[in-house]
Amino acid sequence: MPSVSLTDDGRFLSLDTGGGILRFHAIWLRDNATDPATRDPGNGQRLITMADLPADPRIAAAAIEGDTLVCSFAPDGPTTRFPLHWLIDHAYDRAIGAGGRGRLPESAEAWDAGLNGTVPSGDIRQMRADPSALRDWLGAIRRYGFAKVTGLPAESGALFSIVDLFGYVRETNYGRHFEVRTEVNPVNLAYTGLGLQAHTDNPYRDPVPTLQVLSCIENSAKGGENMVVDGFACARRLRAENSGMFDLLADHAARFEYAGSRGVRLTSRRPMIELAPDGELVAIRFNARSAAALTDVPFERMEAYYAAWRRFSEIIDDAAMEVTFKLSPGEAFIVDNTRVLHARKGYSGEGYRWLQGCYADKDGLLSTLAALESEMGEAA
Ligand code: FE2
Repeated sequence: MPSVSLTDDGRFLSLDTGGGILRFHAIWLRDNATDPATRDPGNGQRLITMADLPADPRIAAAAIEGDTLVCSFAPDGPTTRFPLHWLIDHAYDRAIGAGGRGRLPESAEAWDAGLNGTVPSGDIRQMRADPSALRDWLGAIRRYGFAKVTGLPAESGALFSIVDLFGYVRETNYGRHFEVRTEVNPVNLAYTGLGLQAHTDNPYRDPVPTLQVLSCIENSAKGGENMVVDGFACARRLRAENSGMFDLLADHAARFEYAGSRGVRLTSRRPMIELAPDGELVAIRFNARSAAALTDVPFERMEAYYAAWRRFSEIIDDAAMEVTFKLSPGEAFIVDNTRVLHARKGYSGEGYRWLQGCYADKDGLLSTLAALESEMGEAA
């Protein structure tokens, strides 16, 4: 049976859940009160600002009724009810930041070449018809940072139907979509037959496009396989090998730029390995073609920074980190462009390779996934 006890001064309470004790402060409980004057019962949005909260509220009384904590405040304030499961889900009385710098987000799982042969994939016809198939595919993208799509028509514009599953296309100076095929006088090296080192797209934008979709219309050329690499796994490997190198890439801003088309001068100033304040991995930016002159690394550390960059690049190029597949017409893949790097092998000779790409954003994808999960329950 859960129980609750109050400190003498009412500054916090201790909830014994049966599985451990969780402490909650009066100010936190008052801020998160569920009464209709604090939170709109319709849309759930907060109706108060900090000015409406007393600076030093106290808990006057707390009791458990069934599966609810009932709480009242002094000197005034609403009596409010918190479902116990909500308190447990939102508990902050734990070791925050455990796992140290470079820890993975809770929903992510690091991978390497061992994932070859078991690439997450979804059939678009099935995902349109069955919300659980869509939920599983979106969940795989949250977990692994990429997934394939099959069952598309091998025709121009088919890639938009993938974005329609969860969100909206993000248009850029490359257009609503871009053609990835060999061009004369290309504005970007992607539009040649050259192999491309694993990279994240458009690190010179801030914010970067957080998702990229690439769909295949024709792929009869020799070569041209696609590769993906888990940037989070590479960063963690660098840290395990040499934490000083990891820190150099996390603690100093790199510079990226693109000025390959008339009227476009995109620049950004961000680290190659971006961390949240508690050390959790947020994003990887890595793109040899778009790297600009480094001007934010102290003189004393510049050579060490280059050594760290070189080692990170070697890890990214290591076949042990790489998952490879060749797209057939009617297939596509999506990558979390803040985490997973993509690459392609060079192609030439007989045949033709035509892919189309577009960008979209991960907030919409994660929102659709969370809404599906709350409607239908999480995957078994
Ligand atoms: Fe790319």
